[in-house]
Amino acid sequence: LERTFSIIKPDATRRNLTGKINAKFEDAGLRIIAQKRIHMTKAQAGAFYAVHAERPFYDELCEFMASEPVVVQVLEGENAISKNREVMGATNPSDAAPGTIRAEFAESVGENSVHGSDAPETAAEEIAYFFSGTELVG
Ligand code: GTP
Ligand code: MG
Repeated sequence: LERTFSIIKPDATRRNLTGKINAKFEDAGLRIIAQKRIHMTKAQAGAFYAVHAERPFYDELCEFMASEPVVVQVLEGENAISKNREVMGATNPSDAAPGTIRAEFAESVGENSVHGSDAPETAAEEIAYFFSGTELVG
């Protein structure tokens, strides 16, 4: 089984969508094996999204991710990384397939409700950034 890292972003926690989003993950066969609600500092958000540091929206993205609490989580399942990205839908909600989380809940390309790792290496790094091994209960 594969593991991936997920964030329920501030626009979604603010609207009490954590349960509805988790139901989408579970219905797709992804098990939530770790989960916690945190409020990131801007520095933490900046380090997490360092790969996007040169993009024009980087500062806005970090401000947003630190604006309100998020739920960080680890999802486990067969092909968890690609399955999670399928359930999330395209980055821009106007391109997201019907029934996906972003199609149903995202407010804009920036405030798009969820993050999901894009590859095994980034999944491992992102999980280790927020969780210790004993917090993962598969
Ligand atoms: P993540 O799972 O959050 O990494 O999304 P992604 O892999 O679908 O998109 P990408 O890694 O390219 O971008 C990371 C995040 O930056 C997106 O989820 C958005 O929140 C934000 N973002 C991407 N493009 C834009 C943009 O054009 N404007 C703004 N404001 N934010 C953007
Ligand atoms: Mg990404």
